[in-house]
Amino acid sequence: MLRIVVCVSGGGTNLQAIIDGIERGTITNAAIAAVISNNPGAYALERARNHGIEGVCISPREFECRERFNEAFLKKLDSYQADLVALAGFLVVLPEIMIKKYQNRIINIHPSLIPSFCGKGYYGLKVHEAALERGVKVTGATVHFVDEGTDTGPIILQQPVLVEQDDTPELLQRRVMEQAEWKILPQAIDLIANGKIQVENGKVLIQEQPME
Ligand code: GAR
Repeated sequence: MLRIVVCVSGGGTNLQAIIDGIERGTITNAAIAAVISNNPGAYALERARNHGIEGVCISPREFECRERFNEAFLKKLDSYQADLVALAGFLVVLPEIMIKKYQNRIINIHPSLIPSFCGKGYYGLKVHEAALERGVKVTGATVHFVDEGTDTGPIILQQPVLVEQDDTPELLQRRVMEQAEWKILPQAIDLIANGKIQVENGKVLIQEQPME
């Protein structure tokens, strides 16, 4: 059974998609051990509580500096003995030590087709504003492993979404969530939980049969 810790900062609709996937059985061999938020007001914490999942907040504001926050965060994460860390709208830059320790065990959902509209400064609504500004006709979402760069890790799944002429950033964000994010994040977790994902030379291979 894959033990997942989900890290969140906001509304938690992607967290909800994971919870629903586990409850409905579209994600198998997995359970959420805990939800960690950096924001005490995150509605995602409420979603966790509603489903009997432990939800904790570790806010950078409670610490004198970033170093202490990073240490406390990693200590908390380690305490859950997670096999997989899912960043579901987690807007905190991860410390390098955590990325090294959890190599190929941290995944992130990003609201564009990487390598478009990703990297530093591209998060949430800003991604969709940039896509509309550029006039792209197709966007989407990406689930990838997290490495030391920003949105540079091996890509696990991508789902395209068509841009409509009268889209606003908010409309596009909602459609990308509905048509892409809430599908591929649970799907990626199910593939990992069932041993179907392998990383080779920085690329993800998806197996039909589970690996040894
Ligand atoms: C999602 O759209 C996710 O792709 C994005 O934040 C939103 C969180 O929504 N993440 C990033 O932009 C990361 N670079 P949620 O809290 O409702 O899941």
